Amino acid sequence: MKRTLGTCYYPEHWPREIWEEDAQRMAELGLTWVRIGEFSWSKIEPKAGEYCFEWLDEAIDVLGRAGLKVVLGTPTATPPRWMIDKYPDMLAVDVEGRIRKFGSRRHYCFSHEGYKQECAVITKVIAERYGKNPHVAAWQTDNEYGCHDTTISYGSSALQAFRLWLQEKYKTIDALNDAWGNIFWSMIYDDFDQIELPNLTVTEPNPAHSLDFRRFSSDQVVRFNRLQCDIIREYSAAPLSHNYMGRITDFDHFEVGKDLEIATWDSYPLGFLEDRVGTTPERQRAFARQGDPDFQAFHHDLYRAVGHGRWWVMEQQPGPVNWAPTNPAPLEGMVRLWTWEAFAHGAEAVCYFRWRQAPFAQEQMHAGLLRPDHKEAPAFAEAREVFKEIQNAPVVAQAQSRVGLIFDYDADFAWAVQPHGDGLSYFGIVFDCYRALRSLGLSIDILPPDTQDFSGYDMILAPALMHMSDALKAKLSQTQAQIILGPRAGARDAHMTIPVPLPPAFPDLDVTVSYVESIRSDMPIALEKEGVVEFYREHLEGQDEIVLATEAGEAVAMGNHNIVYLGACLDLEGWKSIISPRCELAGIETMELPDGIRRRACGDECFWFNYTTENYQMDDMTIPPAGVIRVVGEVSK
Ligand code: GAL
Repeated sequence: MKRTLGTCYYPEHWPREIWEEDAQRMAELGLTWVRIGEFSWSKIEPKAGEYCFEWLDEAIDVLGRAGLKVVLGTPTATPPRWMIDKYPDMLAVDVEGRIRKFGSRRHYCFSHEGYKQECAVITKVIAERYGKNPHVAAWQTDNEYGCHDTTISYGSSALQAFRLWLQEKYKTIDALNDAWGNIFWSMIYDDFDQIELPNLTVTEPNPAHSLDFRRFSSDQVVRFNRLQCDIIREYSAAPLSHNYMGRITDFDHFEVGKDLEIATWDSYPLGFLEDRVGTTPERQRAFARQGDPDFQAFHHDLYRAVGHGRWWVMEQQPGPVNWAPTNPAPLEGMVRLWTWEAFAHGAEAVCYFRWRQAPFAQEQMHAGLLRPDHKEAPAFAEAREVFKEIQNAPVVAQAQSRVGLIFDYDADFAWAVQPHGDGLSYFGIVFDCYRALRSLGLSIDILPPDTQDFSGYDMILAPALMHMSDALKAKLSQTQAQIILGPRAGARDAHMTIPVPLPPAFPDLDVTVSYVESIRSDMPIALEKEGVVEFYREHLEGQDEIVLATEAGEAVAMGNHNIVYLGACLDLEGWKSIISPRCELAGIETMELPDGIRRRACGDECFWFNYTTENYQMDDMTIPPAGVIRVVGEVSK
């Protein structure tokens, strides 16, 4: 696969007269891809059943003739206004029971049968028309499932579908009562039709009820997406994709990914920094114009796994965005750095969002490659530079890393239902671990929990994996890799119940979690080595060796020569204290990288990235601020 560039374009936003020139300029810039169509439903079908395709025929033709390849989006993230008259109850309902009205986007409930039928029809009409069009080289289903908190709806369509889902899962109401533990607080049901959605209860609902509702909501996204995929495939052989997001974890992306050829994601490093990354105000200031040095990389690795190796950045931030708490401009060079970082992690394409800044509507304060007056915005020159550079490094490297990190959406649902302390989240713990691995100079593969073959990994980490199937435990215990588990590994069974024997109940480990506690953020506990325990810890008993202890000598991690069980949340130094010695046992070389200097090795390439505002001196190399260095040859992984 080749490294390519692209952009997101909205022909329906601009007069017909400028399309040709736009297409020409895209081609001259070196772009290969142009994504269009994903919000254009009201232009394609202005009235129910009345289609207007001439403009789209022409737009695809103009772009194609300029040598560009089109990624065509299905427009189902923005149903037209007339649809709401037809199906007033298709709108989603929030947790407080309020209707989420028309007037922006993503105004639908994944469970509404009428809306799904409409989606099937529009997808079929579009796929039929463009399925064999030589310029349509890939598809995108919908746009950013889950964006604006839209995975979960508490309306009547969701309720009906949830009851059916439960019936299919449990068969009898007694089995459900049993699995959920409904004897507690007299919550026993006589019939599936008595079950409500888990909102607006007097105090917290049964966690098993909430977890099943999250699983159901995730399944609805998978089904919604599959409906479109099955239709498009009847008419087109081009690959299918969906653009996922940063730190949106409320549906199982691995399951959606099974129906698609390519995973893409939308990378807004500055947009994410203040309220998605979860970092301190000091670091937010330090990286305000660069973005968090690990957040993009984490998602690159995650979506490489979701896409079974094939992934893109579908939307790359090119300048200030409009939607974060504050919206600074990137440091000069960062657009180039972000683009190269994606390529270093195996991206086949990086597409900039958007071609031209729109002077109207919600995103008028969002930069593009062009300004509203058609002149070049600062990112244009950086994209041009990358295009020149990829001529000399054209091929996407694919290579397995030595370190594997398991990521499980179901564990995220379980943590969300029962975090046991403010600020505790599954994503947060996994990301802390990932940051520690990166600051040790390591390259990482993220792995789904149903990975069948762990061979080739010398270290596998499974932090915070709340429920572990017996199959996964068996597979992990059979590998030769160093394994690090916990905290809260196997802490619940599939129904959100504490298992007995008590966790982690892992083969060959003589460690038991006797009880757990969350701790105040201002009461960290010092470790005997570098770092602290923070927010959460487990009390461990058993015969295995204490691998890491507090200053007071209490066990924080226990295990044997191959497996470690970690019973705590740790800060960065703490994570490194547990990971480094295990790397040594696995024969994996580590290095201490300063915050903001990052490295990624893949194939015979090794990349260095400087996310800081200072020069970084390394042996005989200086990496300037926002600098990227690519070294080719034998590299240590
Ligand atoms: C993405 C979305 C785009 C655009 C962009 C603005 O979340 O897919 O349509 O809204 O954000 O940054």
